[in-house]
Amino acid sequence: VAHEINNPLAVINEKAGLIKDLFSMKEEWAKNEKLMNTINAVLASVERCANITRRLLGFMRNTGVAAESINLKETIQEVLAFLGKEAEYRSFHISVHVDDTVPLIASDRGRLQEIFLNVINNSFAAMKDGGHLDVTVKRHTQDMVSVTIRDDGCGIPKADLERVFEPFFSTKAGKGGTGLGLSITSGLVQELGGEIRVESEVGQGTAFTVLLPIQPKKKE
Ligand SMILES: Nc1ncnc2c1ncn2[C@@H]1O[C@H](COP(=O)(O)OP(=O)(O)O)[C@@H](O)[C@H]1O
Ligand SMILES: [Mg+2]
Repeated sequence: VAHEINNPLAVINEKAGLIKDLFSMKEEWAKNEKLMNTINAVLASVERCANITRRLLGFMRNTGVAAESINLKETIQEVLAFLGKEAEYRSFHISVHVDDTVPLIASDRGRLQEIFLNVINNSFAAMKDGGHLDVTVKRHTQDMVSVTIRDDGCGIPKADLERVFEPFFSTKAGKGGTGLGLSITSGLVQELGGEIRVESEVGQGTAFTVLLPIQPKKKE
């Protein structure tokens, strides 16, 4: 999606820039504030769109997927420590449970942190002060582990449930939401050879489960 938006965006940017240059050449137009403000507003909006698509693409570019030895409990605790101030301030009750049967996995620490951060951030936004967040790590199959992040927040209506991974789907428009968090997250999970699932009940809470391979899958 981001690629498909980027190309016409680049064309708009170039053409609008050209129009501005042409206007600037003629003194009568260059002095016309309304004209210049209008074209500058177009350019600024294009820039805003470009920033969004850059964020979407940024994670997929350049950096190859690492295969470090990862202790999931540590990685999750690092992310929670990063969010510790907000958790403390809002009196959240947070628990992390890792089954003994969970091995170290070969994965990418940076991507994992980004994944957990996005999901937990959404939970925090959905939870009331004093709410509960439980992270459970289990052995899912011979080859996979599961990380379930469960909150007792507002929950997601059935109709929205299949849309939460779509880019730009957000119920926080005007409240700082971009609707990019989960689309980026699901892209990252795919890069790691995993899968992300969601279950939710309005008024009860939400559980996101990230399935991760213990060893990275070979690319065909
Ligand atoms: N834990 C959660 N509880 C309730 N709603 C959630 C939760 N996680 C995601 N959502 C819903 O999914 C939408 C999309 O999430 P996301 O892609 O991270 O975008 P954003 O957080 O910027 O809105 C949110 O706006 C919210 O409606
Ligand atoms: Mg979010």
